[in-house]
Amino acid sequence: MKKTIKDYDLNGKKVIIRCDFNVPIKNGIISDDNRIVESLPTIKYAIENGAKVILMSHLGRIKTAEDLPENTLLPVAKRLSELLKKEVVFVSKTRGKELEDAINKLNNSDVLLMENTRYEDLNGELESSNDEALGKYWASLGDIFINDAFGTAHRSHASNVGIATYLPSGIGFLIEKELMMLEETINNPVRPFTVILGGAKVSDKIGVIENLVKVADYILIGGGMSYTFLVADGKKVGKSLVDKEMIDFCKNILANYRNKIILPIDVVCGKEISEATEIKECDIDEFSDDNMGLDIGPKTVDLFKEYLEKSKTIIWNGPVGVFEINKFANGTKRVCEILTKLDAIKIAGGGDTGSAIINFGYEKGFNHISTGGGASLTLLEGKVLSGIDVIADK
Ligand code: 3PG
Repeated sequence: MKKTIKDYDLNGKKVIIRCDFNVPIKNGIISDDNRIVESLPTIKYAIENGAKVILMSHLGRIKTAEDLPENTLLPVAKRLSELLKKEVVFVSKTRGKELEDAINKLNNSDVLLMENTRYEDLNGELESSNDEALGKYWASLGDIFINDAFGTAHRSHASNVGIATYLPSGIGFLIEKELMMLEETINNPVRPFTVILGGAKVSDKIGVIENLVKVADYILIGGGMSYTFLVADGKKVGKSLVDKEMIDFCKNILANYRNKIILPIDVVCGKEISEATEIKECDIDEFSDDNMGLDIGPKTVDLFKEYLEKSKTIIWNGPVGVFEINKFANGTKRVCEILTKLDAIKIAGGGDTGSAIINFGYEKGFNHISTGGGASLTLLEGKVLSGIDVIADK
């Protein structure tokens, strides 16, 4: 069990909280503030306990100076002020006198947000490569470090692993919740335990399949990755996406775990991935050469429903169709609808799965929607997250 924010006396201390405020922003407008909202319990706890709160986060990826303006955290500071109903001091620097003076001026319960930690990537990827001197410098700005950036926990950056190496550290409430929902569920699931896997490529999910096939009772496979499994199972899939190098891997999984793997029996096809394309529902055995499967069909939805209805724990990672296009969104929407009505523990991975659920308005039907895409995948693979591993145990 890792140390948490509750293991420290925060009163009057400079507490650095690493959040994941990597949210979608266009022209200064945040289109999804879920990650900011999910960070509030930890920030509020620090405020209520008299900490001088110093917030850090990355945003986007910084390769050239042109990337800087569109990746400023200023819109996040504004949104955070609204949500906290309190001024959040924004410092447009990641180091230096202006930042240090602003930190030294903080009173107990004040909140400051520093500029995007990845601005330090401009000259030599100092943040992303966990540069030792940068981690040490940022650590020198505070007394205690709390990592609550679950979405970044699979990265080894100066702003998570680096700072934690030099300061007394703990995890925040968001990371604690993510670990409880994802890690604990996999380690000790209430059965039957079913996993829904989707997304484009099998190669992105090898680790997840290998890990979960051993513990799950059923794995329902949809999305682009299902076509490689179908080919491995001897089916013709027309022009559908197939990860040729993964066919043997899929054959092997099917040979060893045939009774656990549930593949689509029908699909919604189109000639191209576009809203304008003509669509057709067809059984898997009726695939024509010029069509590609872009969503699961209604018979597959019913088949998946049978398995989901008998499950007590469900983890979902990866949409089952090209949900960004209306014509191919139905399968993913139907899975949302079915899950919402079930009396089971329902957990969704972040990234595309989380966006689909939130965009379609089904978030209330889930026990947990992870705030991490890559991080939740890493946990589902049964691997250690470096940003959490570095925190001492109680
Ligand atoms: C994410 O959105 O997955 C995290 O914030 C990590 O971002 P990155 O993939 O740019 O490191």
